[in-house]
Amino acid sequence: MEEKEISQAVIGRLPRYYRYLGDLKAAHVERISSQELSELMNVTASQIRQDFNNFGGFGQQGYGYNVDYLHEEIGKLLGLNTDHHLIIIGAGNLGQALANYVNFEKRGFIVKGIFDINPALYGKQLRGIQVKPMEEVIDFVDQNDIDIVVLTIPKNGAVDVTGQLVKHGVKAIWNFAHVDLDVPEDVIVENVHLSDSLMKLSYKINRRKREENGGKNKSVR
Ligand code: NAI
Repeated sequence: MEEKEISQAVIGRLPRYYRYLGDLKAAHVERISSQELSELMNVTASQIRQDFNNFGGFGQQGYGYNVDYLHEEIGKLLGLNTDHHLIIIGAGNLGQALANYVNFEKRGFIVKGIFDINPALYGKQLRGIQVKPMEEVIDFVDQNDIDIVVLTIPKNGAVDVTGQLVKHGVKAIWNFAHVDLDVPEDVIVENVHLSDSLMKLSYKINRRKREENGGKNKSVR
Protein backbone atom coordinates (compact mmCIF):
# COMPACT_ATOMS: atom_id res chain seq x y z
CA MET A 1 0.00 0.00 0.00
CA GLU A 2 1.36 3.42 -0.90
CA GLU A 3 2.04 5.64 2.10
CA LYS A 4 -0.03 8.80 2.40
CA GLU A 5 1.95 11.95 1.58
CA ILE A 6 2.68 13.77 4.83
CA SER A 7 3.49 17.49 4.80
CA GLN A 8 7.06 18.60 5.42
CA ALA A 9 5.80 20.71 8.33
CA VAL A 10 4.40 17.63 10.11
CA ILE A 11 7.55 15.61 9.41
CA GLY A 12 9.60 18.52 10.72
CA ARG A 13 7.72 18.38 14.04
CA LEU A 14 8.17 14.62 14.60
CA PRO A 15 11.72 14.80 16.01
CA ARG A 16 10.55 17.30 18.63
CA TYR A 17 7.67 15.01 19.68
CA TYR A 18 10.16 12.16 19.81
CA ARG A 19 12.52 14.11 22.07
CA TYR A 20 9.80 15.20 24.50
CA LEU A 21 8.34 11.70 24.65
CA GLY A 22 11.82 10.32 25.28
CA ASP A 23 12.16 12.68 28.26
CA LEU A 24 8.72 11.66 29.56
CA LYS A 25 9.62 8.01 29.19
CA ALA A 26 12.87 8.58 31.09
CA ALA A 27 10.82 10.25 33.83
CA HIS A 28 8.60 7.11 33.96
CA VAL A 29 5.48 8.96 32.81
CA GLU A 30 3.12 6.30 31.46
CA ARG A 31 0.29 8.31 29.92
CA ILE A 32 -0.12 11.86 28.70
CA SER A 33 -3.10 13.73 27.27
CA SER A 34 -2.77 15.95 24.21
CA GLN A 35 -3.57 18.89 26.52
CA GLU A 36 -0.67 18.08 28.85
CA LEU A 37 1.68 17.47 25.95
CA SER A 38 0.55 20.74 24.44
CA GLU A 39 1.38 22.67 27.61
CA LEU A 40 4.75 20.99 27.86
CA MET A 41 5.69 21.62 24.25
CA ASN A 42 4.01 24.98 23.88
CA VAL A 43 1.92 23.96 20.85
CA THR A 44 -1.87 23.67 20.72
CA ALA A 45 -3.54 20.38 21.62
CA SER A 46 -5.43 20.50 18.33
CA GLN A 47 -2.15 20.78 16.43
CA ILE A 48 -0.89 17.67 18.21
CA ARG A 49 -4.09 15.74 17.46
CA GLN A 50 -4.02 16.86 13.81
CA ASP A 51 -0.36 15.86 13.47
CA PHE A 52 -0.97 12.46 15.02
CA ASN A 53 -4.09 11.89 12.92
CA ASN A 54 -1.83 11.79 9.88
CA PHE A 55 -0.59 8.51 11.27
CA GLY A 56 -3.88 7.09 12.46
CA GLY A 57 -3.98 9.00 15.75
CA PHE A 58 -1.75 6.58 17.72
CA GLY A 59 -4.68 5.02 19.52
CA GLN A 60 -5.56 7.66 22.08
CA GLN A 61 -8.00 5.88 24.38
CA GLY A 62 -9.52 7.00 27.64
CA TYR A 63 -6.93 9.16 29.31
CA GLY A 64 -4.39 10.29 26.76
CA TYR A 65 -1.61 8.51 24.94
CA ASN A 66 0.56 5.69 26.13
CA VAL A 67 3.99 7.39 26.27
CA ASP A 68 6.06 4.25 25.57
CA TYR A 69 3.93 3.28 22.60
CA LEU A 70 3.84 6.80 21.15
CA HIS A 71 7.60 7.19 21.54
CA GLU A 72 8.20 3.87 19.83
CA GLU A 73 5.77 4.52 16.98
CA ILE A 74 7.18 7.97 16.24
CA GLY A 75 10.66 6.45 16.43
CA LYS A 76 9.60 3.91 13.80
CA LEU A 77 8.24 6.67 11.57
CA LEU A 78 11.58 8.43 11.89
CA GLY A 79 13.36 5.20 11.00
CA LEU A 80 15.05 5.06 14.39
CA ASN A 81 14.20 1.41 14.96
CA THR A 82 17.08 0.38 12.69
CA ASP A 83 20.74 1.37 12.61
CA HIS A 84 22.01 3.70 9.91
CA HIS A 85 25.62 3.47 8.80
CA LEU A 86 27.31 6.79 8.06
CA ILE A 87 30.54 7.97 6.55
CA ILE A 88 31.82 11.48 7.03
CA ILE A 89 33.58 13.24 4.17
CA GLY A 90 35.75 16.05 5.51
CA ALA A 91 37.46 15.63 8.87
CA GLY A 92 37.84 19.33 9.64
CA ASN A 93 36.21 21.23 12.49
CA LEU A 94 32.66 20.27 11.61
CA GLY A 95 33.36 16.69 10.55
CA GLN A 96 35.27 16.07 13.77
CA ALA A 97 32.56 17.65 15.90
CA LEU A 98 29.92 15.39 14.32
CA ALA A 99 32.14 12.32 14.63
CA ASN A 100 32.68 13.08 18.31
CA TYR A 101 29.01 13.58 19.12
CA VAL A 102 28.06 10.47 21.06
CA ASN A 103 24.29 10.94 20.95
CA PHE A 104 23.96 10.21 17.23
CA GLU A 105 25.13 6.69 17.94
CA LYS A 106 22.56 6.30 20.72
CA ARG A 107 19.88 6.99 18.08
CA GLY A 108 21.36 4.37 15.77
CA PHE A 109 23.48 6.60 13.53
CA ILE A 110 26.77 4.73 13.48
CA VAL A 111 29.85 6.35 11.98
CA LYS A 112 31.69 3.69 9.97
CA GLY A 113 34.34 5.77 8.24
CA ILE A 114 35.82 9.26 8.00
CA PHE A 115 37.63 10.52 4.91
CA ASP A 116 39.65 13.60 3.99
CA ILE A 117 42.10 14.85 1.38
CA ASN A 118 44.54 16.31 3.90
CA PRO A 119 47.39 13.84 4.57
CA ALA A 120 48.04 15.53 7.93
CA LEU A 121 44.76 14.05 9.13
CA TYR A 122 45.26 10.47 7.92
CA GLY A 123 45.35 8.06 10.82
CA LYS A 124 43.90 10.57 13.28
CA GLN A 125 41.54 8.74 15.62
CA LEU A 126 38.04 10.08 16.18
CA ARG A 127 36.20 7.92 18.70
CA GLY A 128 38.12 4.87 17.57
CA ILE A 129 37.81 5.53 13.83
CA GLN A 130 40.86 6.49 11.80
CA VAL A 131 40.61 9.24 9.21
CA LYS A 132 41.33 7.68 5.81
CA PRO A 133 42.45 9.23 2.51
CA MET A 134 39.73 10.07 0.01
CA GLU A 135 41.35 7.65 -2.45
CA GLU A 136 39.89 4.85 -0.32
CA VAL A 137 36.31 6.08 -0.12
CA ILE A 138 34.92 4.37 -3.21
CA ASP A 139 36.25 0.93 -2.23
CA PHE A 140 34.91 1.52 1.27
CA VAL A 141 31.44 2.37 -0.04
CA ASP A 142 31.52 -0.65 -2.36
CA GLN A 143 32.47 -3.00 0.45
CA ASN A 144 30.31 -1.64 3.27
CA ASP A 145 26.63 -1.01 3.60
CA ILE A 146 26.61 2.77 3.88
CA ASP A 147 23.21 4.41 4.32
CA ILE A 148 24.16 8.05 4.74
CA VAL A 149 27.05 10.22 3.58
CA VAL A 150 27.75 13.28 5.71
CA LEU A 151 29.32 16.03 3.61
CA THR A 152 31.39 18.44 5.67
CA ILE A 153 33.67 19.80 2.96
CA PRO A 154 33.78 23.14 1.14
CA LYS A 155 31.30 23.58 -1.68
CA ASN A 156 33.83 23.37 -4.52
CA GLY A 157 34.56 19.70 -3.76
CA ALA A 158 31.05 18.71 -2.76
CA VAL A 159 29.47 18.37 -6.20
CA ASP A 160 32.25 16.15 -7.56
CA VAL A 161 32.38 13.94 -4.46
CA THR A 162 28.60 13.55 -4.49
CA GLY A 163 28.61 12.55 -8.16
CA GLN A 164 31.15 9.79 -7.52
CA LEU A 165 29.43 8.44 -4.43
CA VAL A 166 26.01 8.41 -6.05
CA LYS A 167 27.46 6.36 -8.93
CA HIS A 168 28.49 3.84 -6.29
CA GLY A 169 25.04 3.47 -4.83
CA VAL A 170 24.86 6.15 -2.12
CA LYS A 171 21.19 7.04 -1.61
CA ALA A 172 21.18 9.62 1.18
CA ILE A 173 23.30 12.69 1.84
CA TRP A 174 23.39 14.91 4.91
CA ASN A 175 24.77 17.98 3.25
CA PHE A 176 26.53 20.70 5.23
CA ALA A 177 28.37 22.10 2.21
CA HIS A 178 26.93 25.40 1.08
CA VAL A 179 25.85 24.18 -2.33
CA ASP A 180 22.68 22.68 -3.79
CA LEU A 181 23.41 19.17 -4.95
CA ASP A 182 21.90 17.98 -8.19
CA VAL A 183 21.20 14.29 -7.62
CA PRO A 184 19.02 11.61 -9.25
CA GLU A 185 15.45 11.31 -7.98
CA ASP A 186 16.13 8.24 -5.87
CA VAL A 187 18.81 10.03 -3.84
CA ILE A 188 17.66 11.94 -0.76
CA VAL A 189 19.49 15.08 0.31
CA GLU A 190 18.94 16.85 3.60
CA ASN A 191 20.63 20.24 3.62
CA VAL A 192 21.72 21.72 6.92
CA HIS A 193 22.65 25.36 7.19
CA LEU A 194 23.39 26.50 10.72
CA SER A 195 23.80 30.02 9.41
CA ASP A 196 20.16 30.01 8.22
CA SER A 197 19.09 29.26 11.77
CA LEU A 198 21.36 32.02 13.06
CA MET A 199 19.90 34.46 10.54
CA LYS A 200 16.39 33.53 11.69
CA LEU A 201 17.47 34.36 15.23
CA SER A 202 18.95 37.62 14.01
CA TYR A 203 15.68 38.43 12.23
CA LYS A 204 13.74 37.92 15.45
CA ILE A 205 16.16 40.07 17.45
CA ASN A 206 15.88 42.73 14.79
CA ARG A 207 12.07 42.59 14.80
CA ARG A 208 11.99 42.96 18.56
CA LYS A 209 14.32 45.96 18.37
CA ARG A 210 12.10 47.54 15.71
CA GLU A 211 9.06 47.05 17.93
CA GLU A 212 10.89 48.65 20.87
CA ASN A 213 11.94 51.57 18.68
CA GLY A 214 8.42 52.19 17.45
CA GLY A 215 8.94 50.63 14.02
CA LYS A 216 12.31 52.22 13.22
CA ASN A 217 15.27 50.08 12.26
CA LYS A 218 18.45 51.47 13.80
CA SER A 219 21.64 50.47 12.04
CA VAL A 220 24.42 49.85 14.54
CA ARG A 221 27.21 48.67 12.31
P1 NAI B 1 37.49 22.84 7.81
O1 NAI B 1 38.34 23.61 6.87
O2 NAI B 1 37.89 22.74 9.24
O3 NAI B 1 37.35 21.34 7.27
C1 NAI B 1 37.13 21.00 5.95
C2 NAI B 1 37.83 19.66 5.72
O4 NAI B 1 37.45 19.16 4.45
C3 NAI B 1 39.35 19.78 5.70
O5 NAI B 1 39.92 18.84 6.58
C4 NAI B 1 39.71 19.51 4.25
O6 NAI B 1 40.98 18.89 4.12
C5 NAI B 1 38.60 18.62 3.81
N1 NAI B 1 38.31 18.60 2.38
C6 NAI B 1 38.30 19.65 1.52
N2 NAI B 1 37.96 19.22 0.30
C7 NAI B 1 37.74 17.90 0.40
C8 NAI B 1 37.36 16.90 -0.54
N3 NAI B 1 37.13 17.19 -1.81
N4 NAI B 1 37.24 15.64 -0.10
C9 NAI B 1 37.49 15.32 1.19
N5 NAI B 1 37.85 16.22 2.12
C10 NAI B 1 37.98 17.49 1.71
O7 NAI B 1 36.06 23.42 7.66
P2 NAI B 1 34.79 23.17 8.63
O8 NAI B 1 34.68 24.27 9.57
O9 NAI B 1 34.84 21.78 9.14
O10 NAI B 1 33.61 23.30 7.59
C11 NAI B 1 33.49 22.36 6.54
C12 NAI B 1 32.55 22.90 5.49
O11 NAI B 1 31.25 22.97 6.01
C13 NAI B 1 32.92 24.31 5.05
O12 NAI B 1 32.81 24.39 3.65
C14 NAI B 1 31.91 25.21 5.70
O13 NAI B 1 31.54 26.28 4.86
C15 NAI B 1 30.74 24.28 5.86
N6 NAI B 1 29.99 24.59 7.07
C16 NAI B 1 28.66 24.44 6.98
C17 NAI B 1 27.87 24.65 8.06
C18 NAI B 1 26.42 24.46 7.91
O14 NAI B 1 25.66 24.73 8.83
N7 NAI B 1 25.96 23.99 6.78
C19 NAI B 1 28.41 25.05 9.36
C20 NAI B 1 29.84 25.12 9.37
C21 NAI B 1 30.60 24.89 8.24
